[in-house]
This record gives sequence, C-alpha cells and structure tokens, in this order.
Amino acid sequence: MKVMVVGSGGREHALVWKLYQSEKAGKIYAAPGNDGLAELAELVDIDMTDISGLANFARKQKIDLTIVGPEEPLVAGIVNEFQARNLKIFGPTREAAMLEGSKIFAKQLLNRYNIPTADFEVFTDPSEAISYLKDTDYPRVIKAEGLARGQGTKIVTSQQEAIKTVNRIMEDRIFGDAGERIVVENFLTGQEISIMALTDGETLLPLAASRDHKPVFDGDEGPNTGGMGAYSPVPYLSEAEEEEIYRQIMYPTLKALRAEDINYQGVLYAGLILTSSGPKVLEFNARFGDPESQAVLPRLQDDLLAVIEEIVAGRLTRKKLSWSKESAVSVVLAAGGYPLTYDEGDEISGLDKVNRYDNLLVFHAGTRKTGEKFITSGGRVLNLTILAEGFFSAVNQVYQHIEEIYFRDMHYRSDIGRSALEELNPENYNRYNQ
Ligand code: GLY
Repeated sequence: MKVMVVGSGGREHALVWKLYQSEKAGKIYAAPGNDGLAELAELVDIDMTDISGLANFARKQKIDLTIVGPEEPLVAGIVNEFQARNLKIFGPTREAAMLEGSKIFAKQLLNRYNIPTADFEVFTDPSEAISYLKDTDYPRVIKAEGLARGQGTKIVTSQQEAIKTVNRIMEDRIFGDAGERIVVENFLTGQEISIMALTDGETLLPLAASRDHKPVFDGDEGPNTGGMGAYSPVPYLSEAEEEEIYRQIMYPTLKALRAEDINYQGVLYAGLILTSSGPKVLEFNARFGDPESQAVLPRLQDDLLAVIEEIVAGRLTRKKLSWSKESAVSVVLAAGGYPLTYDEGDEISGLDKVNRYDNLLVFHAGTRKTGEKFITSGGRVLNLTILAEGFFSAVNQVYQHIEEIYFRDMHYRSDIGRSALEELNPENYNRYNQ
C-alpha cells in the first residue's frame, strides 16, 4: 500500500514509525514531514494547508490511504475534499472536526446531551465578557473559541488578569479570528487525562490512556504549550474509571454526533479531568494527540495501518487493541524561549549516542538536516520516548538519556511522569513498580 501522512511534527514521526512496521506498508510519504523521519518516508514538499495540492499529489501518485496528523487541515475540510475526489483518507470531515475547531460547538453539544463538562458562558462582545468577569469568583478559565495551537486556554486567578486576557484575545486578536468569540468556564480541579479512541462512527476502539502536560514549566506552571511530555499507561487511572469515561463521555459523544447527523470517523480524543464528582470534558480534539501519540503508539502491538484501513473501508470488526505491558514516557526537548519566540538553527549534538539504544525512540518535531548535522527548526524540537518495564524505571531512564542531548538553550520539564507517582494508591503502586 502507498500511504501518505500529513503533518510535520513529533506525532507524525511516531505515526510514520508505526506505519513503517506494517507488512501492508509499501511506500510511505510524509507531507511535508521533517528531516528526522526521512529515513522512513519520502518527504513531499506540500504544505499541510494546501488541500488541493495534497489531493492532486495523492491522485497522481495513486496513494491508497492518507492519514492526517494536525487539526488545521481537518478543520479546513481536507477529508471532504479527498472524499469528493474518491481518495481514501482517515480523519473526520470539516463538520465533524468542529468538535475541535469550535469550543462553543463542543460545549453546546455536551450540554445538549448531558455529557459532563464545566459550566460555561459564551461571549462575542468583550465588554459583556468583562462586565461578567467583574462580578464572578476566581479562578476561571478563558478559552478562545477556535484553533490556537494548544495555547488558547488561560486559567485566570483575578479580575485584573481576566480583563487583560479578554482584551488580548478579543481586542488585540492574538489568536486572530480564533478569538472572535470566547468561552468562560468554571475552573475544575483534579488530574487530567487524555483518552483517544479510533472510530468508524459506530464503534470505539480505545487507544491506551495517556497523560500530557501542557504548561511549559515543572509543576504545571507557566504558559501553555502544545504539550511538553506524555506517558502511558497512566498509573493513577483505574480500569473502572476508564470504563466510566467510555460510558459517560466517549460513547455518549459519538451518539450525540450521530443524533446531529454527523458521522465521525478518525480519532476521537477527549481531554478530561478526573474531578471528585467524576470525569468531565475539558476539550475535544479531532486527531491523534501530540505528544500523547509519541507515548501511546510505541506500546501498540497491533498493525495500525491494518486497523485504519478497516475503519476507512467501513469494516471495523475488532473490539480492542493489544498493548505492551511496558511503560512509555516521552519528554519534549524545546528550543529556548518556546512557547514564546524562540531561536532556530542551533546544532543538536548527541543524537548518535541516543540512537544506539533499542528501547529509546527519538521522534523529531522541529529539526532540519544540514549536511550530516541536525539543527533546530521549531519550538518543540525532539521527543525522547523510553519503553521500559516499570513506570519508575521508565521515568528515570528517559531523564538519563536526555543528558546525552545538547543544543543551545534547550529546555524540558523535569517532572514528566514524576507527578503521577505521587498519585498512586498501594494497589497501583505495586502494578507499576515492577
Ligand atoms: N497534547 C495536546 C494536543 O494534542 O492537543
């Protein structure tokens, strides 16, 4: 089979790496991909937002299946365009991807179908938002409605901070049109969790649960990023809790979409919080998580390409996937300054060392090759994923290997996985501390 992966980050490297292992995979293309994955896939110089360019390429090269990584092309309708041209593609249509493309659409859908989420208000007028925020308690959560590369959510702890945030989103338009409307939500407390499932619109095929950390600094401090590291499994999530999430949130959401005449095919990803009154939805994504995929896909024992092919062909029959018992911990190495402005073009050293270990995977996100050397070319530069027996051991090993990599002003969170250990009850502690 000829397969094309759309996107260029660490998630796409992990996808290509996993697809490459499939007996069904013939040639793999990545559009535009990145130099770090070029050993596994041919890079295609077409931007992920050039939907007709991608469809023309797929037609010309007789691509059998296209798999979309990022949200932008999904929300812009890449699946609609491919399907209209009889090209096979995995991902939700523009209408279905609204679940991620519009936080207001998602919240209203949840409310209509009684799916647990925080109470919220919607504002299109900044002065109305500000007068509401002058008469409320804190903390609150303010979200730009549209796509903002994972950075459109801010927890505000005072009236002054809330007003500043509204002005930056709605008046200064820091997220452009994505901030024309905002959602103001109640702040929920609890552990966060990422639940992803593959779906043909009828059945959900759960992926292993994972946990991402979005704030840039240890202890979940600082501004939000696209995600600074992830792990799977999640030691503090019990099987009963996971079942409850599927019963209360995942299946009801799929059913709600169907009731709205939306056929959702692709990855349904719920960002959740486990509150004292049960799991609640923070947000939905219409795609594989990044960096969750870099921790989840290495644990998947089934042939991902075969599963996706079944979904796209409308003949998904399997009920579950098989997972390695090993723990995966993935840490993002970021460029100095990220998620604000950051430098590019710094030489990365140590890749030859870390590439030698069988249980360490290096997924490139923002790198470029010049001659024989890799240099930085993005905010999130590399993901180091370890697969190891025992969660504790995985956490320790990944941080040992990070010390072998260097680029100027490199930074990373030093607590990925470590905070999970604090949450363990004795039963889970034994399960994960093998
Ligand atoms: N890790 C969060 C996301 O993929 O949006």
